[in-house]
Amino acid sequence: MPARLEIEGGIPLKGTVKVSAAKNAALPALAAALLTAEPLVFPNLPDLQDVRTMIRLLQTLGATIDRDGARVTVRVARVMKDEAAYELVSTMRASVLVLGPLVARHGSARVALPGGCAIGVRPIDQHLKGLARLGAEIAIENGYVVARASRLRGASIAPDMVTVTGTENLMMAAALAQGTTIIENAAREPEVSDLAALLNAMGARISGAGTARIEIEGVPTLGGATHRIVPDRIEAGTLIVAGAITRGDVTVSDLVPEHLEAVLAKLDECGVAIEVGPTWVRVRGPERPRPADVVTSPFPGFATDMQAQLMTLLALADGSSRVTETIFENRFMHAAELVRLGARIETEGSTAIIRGVPYYQGAQVMASDLRASAALVLAGLAARGRTEVARVYHLDRGYERMETKLAGLGARIDRRT
Ligand code: EPU
Repeated sequence: MPARLEIEGGIPLKGTVKVSAAKNAALPALAAALLTAEPLVFPNLPDLQDVRTMIRLLQTLGATIDRDGARVTVRVARVMKDEAAYELVSTMRASVLVLGPLVARHGSARVALPGGCAIGVRPIDQHLKGLARLGAEIAIENGYVVARASRLRGASIAPDMVTVTGTENLMMAAALAQGTTIIENAAREPEVSDLAALLNAMGARISGAGTARIEIEGVPTLGGATHRIVPDRIEAGTLIVAGAITRGDVTVSDLVPEHLEAVLAKLDECGVAIEVGPTWVRVRGPERPRPADVVTSPFPGFATDMQAQLMTLLALADGSSRVTETIFENRFMHAAELVRLGARIETEGSTAIIRGVPYYQGAQVMASDLRASAALVLAGLAARGRTEVARVYHLDRGYERMETKLAGLGARIDRRT
């Protein structure tokens, strides 16, 4: 039977907890190792299932990995294979991040098309259109994207929508292209800026990361670098909500407050007491949160990756809230599970209407994706009685030692296998 978490709810969390490095920055940073024959050193790689999957993928492509605790060195002296197989891509869509680097350095790539997933259709057409603009020949053969190019050429690219991994894939490819590339409508997420910082440390010439217009002057080769990965703003936000929802008093440290502005503003609206330091946030939960409406949007807006966690808090508010999801078309799977815990939530297309209830009641629930599982853990922490969250492997994909961190704040949470 897959592992599950058992939570005895109702305990106000107290104390200080540290945030790990960001999953969504670690994955592109690892893929960037394909761009150079020299080693990349990551002193703080998070130990997560998705990171392990990306490392496994890199090993199949020819990478050697050296580990010393959280310090991981990745080296791809030679690209031995250019294929990301369906078996790996279907377990982790971010595998598609090897596409740009492989074409740029090796001249060819075969990457399985990811297909749909629990939160939406999630096509990669913008990655492919962008690579084609850079001069790659792209074909779809037997469920695989097959891309070829002798040397990519800089170009002007304007994706039709803001795409995080799309921007990252194109930035990596353009770093080794001949000439200058402009990406308009680029994703402004901190993880994109973190990747640009790594690439620049490797010798790339990238400016404008963090804005909607990124300029990349191609260079012929890239070298090694040592790079600390940016803190995980979504893990931070999840832990902050844990403090708030349990009426606790929690300091979440080792974070970048500027990356959390939209989340903190929304929590403030909900009546959560927030104190912000240079690298920490202290949160004290109200007796009962106030309702609020939220619409997800690309950074610096309210992140879709925090939508489920916020909904979990709003479901206990004194009044009605509306949550509108604009990034993914099917990201309300947690709502039905929260209803099992006593929440009153109705979904109408991309909007959820949440009528606050005074408390959750413990129950058995099932995680459907990463952030949905985080939401269920939060609800379990607040609930009266015992909650069992099944399929916790979803949580393990993106949270490092979540139950240990929560237990350190006084939560009664156990893993059962
Ligand atoms: N889209 C397209 N075509 C494309 C690319 C994207 O139609 O070629 C659409 C998607 O279907 C979606 C929207 O554009 O509706 C935005 O998707 P985006 O490409 O930005 O998502 P992603 O890059 O696949 C990353 C994170 C997600 C996070 C989203 C949005 C990584 C590895 N993943 O995904 O993280 O939700 O950006 O911020 O960075 C998570 O960590 O739980 C997670 C799902």
